[in-house]
Amino acid sequence: MNKAITKTIAFDVYGTLIDTHGLIEMLEHHVGVNAFVFSQLWRQKQLEYSFRRGLMKKYRDFSVCTAQALEYTSLSFGVSLTQMETQTLLDAYQVLPIFEDVAEGLELVKNAGFRLYAFSNGKATDIAQLLKESNISRFFIDIISVDEVQSFKPDPIVYQHFLRKSNASGSNAWMVSSNPFDVIGAVSAGMQSVWVQRSPKLLMDPWEIAPTVTINGFGDLVHAISNYPKKSPC
Ligand code: 2OP
Repeated sequence: MNKAITKTIAFDVYGTLIDTHGLIEMLEHHVGVNAFVFSQLWRQKQLEYSFRRGLMKKYRDFSVCTAQALEYTSLSFGVSLTQMETQTLLDAYQVLPIFEDVAEGLELVKNAGFRLYAFSNGKATDIAQLLKESNISRFFIDIISVDEVQSFKPDPIVYQHFLRKSNASGSNAWMVSSNPFDVIGAVSAGMQSVWVQRSPKLLMDPWEIAPTVTINGFGDLVHAISNYPKKSPC
């Protein structure tokens, strides 16, 4: 059997397949030229809340982290959103756009014979909707959510849950993520990982744990995974 067929790939969703900064135009109505900074703080707080809830064992699903982070960010910018404006932004978050290299990249990965899963902090129903809206559901065998074990990345139990549920072993299981904390979390839990560094300005955390491989976009994914470990020239 082709060795590549046994490889299982976990795709992170928010920030990797789906652009968490896809609501800039909507945010401009509220904060004008500060829309991108607002979006960055919203995302940063959403993740911080998930990390804190994981550590404190106070799990609420990721949409709660998103909503509470939006409330914090609005307060921080001195913007008072009505209930309807808040709901409009949260509804839009459920249909965020995908990055433009993703669909073509997933097609190549699928055709290469790998087993593809979406693996996210988000609830399975929220992820199903995002993948459906972006027309990429067909590439995935299943959606595996941290919600099933009530914790968040990078808690090792969520990566162990992924391995168990996808029936994969660490050395043949790859986490593909643009989020450095997710890449480091997956490697620390025994998986291989690809860091998708979409811009040279984005930095990997300078820890003692590094990504297995780094790529600049989804077009390089098949090559990166198929060629690992690098075959030495004969
Ligand atoms: C995800 O799990 C980490 O937010 C990212 O989809």
